[in-house]
Amino acid sequence: MKALIHENVALALLTTFGIGGPARYFIDAPDEQTVLEAIHGAKEKDLPIFVLGGGSNLLVADAGFPGLVVRIGIRGVEWASANGKTIVDAGAGEEWDRLVASSVERNLSGIECLSGIPGSVGGTPVQNVGAYGQEISEVLVSVRAYDRSADRIVELSHDECGFTYRTSVFNTTAKDRYAVLHVIYALTNNGNPAIRYPELQREFEGKTANPTLAEVRDAVRRIRGRKAMLLVEGDPDCRSAGSFFKNPMVTEEKFADLQSIAGPNVPRYPASGGKVKTAAAWLIEHAGFSKGYSVGPVGLSTKHTLALVNKGGATAADVVRLARQIRSGVRDRFGIELVPEPVLLGFENGSGGL
Ligand code: EPU
Repeated sequence: MKALIHENVALALLTTFGIGGPARYFIDAPDEQTVLEAIHGAKEKDLPIFVLGGGSNLLVADAGFPGLVVRIGIRGVEWASANGKTIVDAGAGEEWDRLVASSVERNLSGIECLSGIPGSVGGTPVQNVGAYGQEISEVLVSVRAYDRSADRIVELSHDECGFTYRTSVFNTTAKDRYAVLHVIYALTNNGNPAIRYPELQREFEGKTANPTLAEVRDAVRRIRGRKAMLLVEGDPDCRSAGSFFKNPMVTEEKFADLQSIAGPNVPRYPASGGKVKTAAAWLIEHAGFSKGYSVGPVGLSTKHTLALVNKGGATAADVVRLARQIRSGVRDRFGIELVPEPVLLGFENGSGGL
């Protein structure tokens, strides 16, 4: 392998949570060739592989990871016109929020509501990133990825990515099969911003009827800041992996049961497949875990109950302990099983018992 292999690299520093042990081997891959060589090399040595992006949706176990971590550092963004749209081809290692900023500067709409999300471009299709009324699946054209099973680079179409809420083939049916190398999006030239989300609409009430893309980007960043969902250097109240649990999707019957326990104010959002989506943050709060609830060095953010935060020196075991406590509190009170959203790496049974 030509790329430099590092040993025992502290993964905590490469995650927004700031938690976790070392990677046994680590390679920074600035191009596709290096990604391929790294993965081939690890396969020859029978080492487990983990493909790391921005580390913003990741909880690493205290013991670290006994295999090779390949950090995707593929950069470069190309902008092209096609059929009245702008096709953006971005390297998986590009910082996501910089791509959003550049798109807004070019007056391209489609991802303005996804402002302020930490992490890299490569992570966006994996969990079908969504916020404030937009979702990656609405603008994604295709994904260029290395297919580890077939040992070749492939192009997955939008439909082949199998997007649903926070889900794609990359984190379900084909988990660990692909390393995302490039993502291709189609954005709308001189488009209007999407202001569908009530909370976003409220930001402009009485101010302006037609906010610009830049104003929407600023508003989303402001809202995220108020919820501890915007990274602020040195502020432990937002040192997290974003939402720690997914919003539960339940059947109409189950939702009716929930309402009979929780009352009429339990949040209800439309969802696909005849399901109803409710709010994990609300359930946590109403199961008795208030904002700021803490157990030693971990806690809930003082701004949002879905952000489990590392207040300083927290271990993965601390996080797992608190997450389990919250899960069982919500289960006991509402009969709903919360599912963690972040990727869990290096836990013995794959999930740390979560
Ligand atoms: N709520 C509480 N307590 C809190 C926070 C919120 O009771 O501490 C209640 C709110 O009053 C509201 C409900 O919970 O009724 C939902 O809260 P919010 O509007 O803040 O949205 P969310 O469901 O927690 C989701 C996504 C976010 C995304 C926002 C905006 C998930 C798991 N979370 O949050 O995504 O930014 O909507 O679209 O889907 C992420 O995935 O990491 C993430 C931050």
